[in-house]
Amino acid sequence: MDSIEEIKTKLDIIDVIREYIPLAQAGANFRARCPFHEEKTPSFMVSRSKQLWYCFGGCNEGGDMFKFVMKQEGLEFGEALRYLAAKAGVQLERQDPRQQGQKTRLLDLMHLAAQYYQQALARAPQAEHARQYLANRLIDPSIIDDFCLGAALPDASALSAFLLSKKYTAQEIMQAGLALQKDHGYGLLDRFRNRIMIPIRTMRGDVIGFGGRTLEADARSAKYLNSPQTPLYDKSAVVYNLDMAKQEIRTNDSAIIVEGYMDVFSVWASGMKHVVASSGTALTVEQIRLIGRFTKHLLFSFDMDPAGIAATQRGIELALREGMDVKVIVLPNNADGSRKHKDPDECIRHDVAAWRESVANSQPFIQFRMDTVLTQKAYDDAFEKKNAVRQLLGSIALLSDRIEQDHWVRALAERVGISGSLLWEELVGMRQKTRAPYSTVVAQPATPTTRMREEILMAALLKSPNLLFVIVPLIQETMLSVNEHQELYRILAPLPDSVRETPDMIGEMARVACTGEYVDRLLLLADKEWAETTEKEFFASVETLARTMRAEYIRNEITRLQARMREAEQHKDADAMALYTRQFHDLQNM
Ligand code: CTP
Ligand code: MN
Repeated sequence: MDSIEEIKTKLDIIDVIREYIPLAQAGANFRARCPFHEEKTPSFMVSRSKQLWYCFGGCNEGGDMFKFVMKQEGLEFGEALRYLAAKAGVQLERQDPRQQGQKTRLLDLMHLAAQYYQQALARAPQAEHARQYLANRLIDPSIIDDFCLGAALPDASALSAFLLSKKYTAQEIMQAGLALQKDHGYGLLDRFRNRIMIPIRTMRGDVIGFGGRTLEADARSAKYLNSPQTPLYDKSAVVYNLDMAKQEIRTNDSAIIVEGYMDVFSVWASGMKHVVASSGTALTVEQIRLIGRFTKHLLFSFDMDPAGIAATQRGIELALREGMDVKVIVLPNNADGSRKHKDPDECIRHDVAAWRESVANSQPFIQFRMDTVLTQKAYDDAFEKKNAVRQLLGSIALLSDRIEQDHWVRALAERVGISGSLLWEELVGMRQKTRAPYSTVVAQPATPTTRMREEILMAALLKSPNLLFVIVPLIQETMLSVNEHQELYRILAPLPDSVRETPDMIGEMARVACTGEYVDRLLLLADKEWAETTEKEFFASVETLARTMRAEYIRNEITRLQARMREAEQHKDADAMALYTRQFHDLQNM
């Protein structure tokens, strides 16, 4: 038995989750208000027999006890494993104790260095210049405290000497990225000298690197110097300030993403503590996923001049591909359209009210792109228009939700006066190209409500396949928008009466055809919905649900077809007109 299995046999998921939230019995399962999103009625279910949890509300996500602890505590799998192993009294085998030992030593070394810099800023006479710099920039003592800011002294090897005195080797100090071998002669040269030192921490709060800002106004050396890649520090895998912001990000259900350290300080000081920085590089998938553990809503506040956009675009594209909701905080401009503030830091210092307003009015990324790309020239000139529209379709193609895409295609069609169906054709071509390598991101054409309704219907059918007598005449496979549901329904609908009487067998068939996980989730959902309902109420409520779904489907299809027909009419497309008209009549006779 491996450690994971051993932990799972020793711990009960009910106990693990009960440490965080109260669980109430519901049928064979347990129910609670979801800890991962705001909700009034409990839609978070836990199954003791399956040792699974699932949130049927906003999250639509579930898993085992590891997944729960990861999400709740914001841990990586390895961290959750260690945590639960300790709880279960299971001894984990270490992969490489030597590696482990070295890493721990480097972490301690970094921690000590951070303390050293901090003390230097607070007390060292040679740090007067640094203290003056922070005072001139009006950086509060509370910010210095919160972010554990420090100072690297002007001396050639002050830090190295200190760390050597603490029995770290020159090798280790260099490995941690804090010093270099002197060019000529013996000894170490501190990498950071005469700079404000900003510790960079992991999500768990371990210092793994530093950013250092020069004190010189006419920077002869780089304005910012960052730790190099080390066994601890990988700049593409760490999000600055996520350790301090993560709870606030979850509470706000959004993260403000800025470029620089100073921006983080100011946004934080303005009271918005759900702020993190990419630290001067385009966001990577790893960084997006780290933030994504706490929210799906990202508010970017980057330099939004054309050069800034180009630099930011890559990160935003990745975020859209990851299914994130991306908004842009647009800082106020001068009357002539030029930028009033260089970055959030400056905006907040000059006009904090304007900053707050910009955050409140943050725009969906695609909207923002439309506003920038659709210049007057793009309206007047066919070539310009083509380029602009293609650029925008490229952005729309990245969205992982077809309903969202539809929304923006319509908006674009209206603005540029091109038919929506033409734009869709172009888009579908693009989507195949742009999305091919990202097979895990499938289009989710359903809104949460539609999806939820379908899920409830499927759960009901699994619980009581007898319901098929009522449902099959009302619901056709094509009315379902989620692939999994269609698949399940394709199996269930044609089942002969005799089989409909045997839910267990149907459950097994469903497990084979879909996945066990999917079926378990639906059975959990059935308990959530109907654990305390009589059979009669249950049947009645499911029938009503099916009728609602049917009516809504027909209504939506009619609206959609009417729009298509209008477009076809405008383009005098007789074939399309005929097709749509026929479909329209079919629908009305359904
Ligand atoms: N950056 C960097 N190396 C540089 C310049 C910038 O790593 N040579 C990163 C830093 O994380 C910096 C961010 O990019 O915070 C944004 O750079 P910039 O806008 O130039 O600096 P500000 O944050 O505005 O810094 P300041 O206000 O101190 O000038
Ligand atoms: Mn700045």
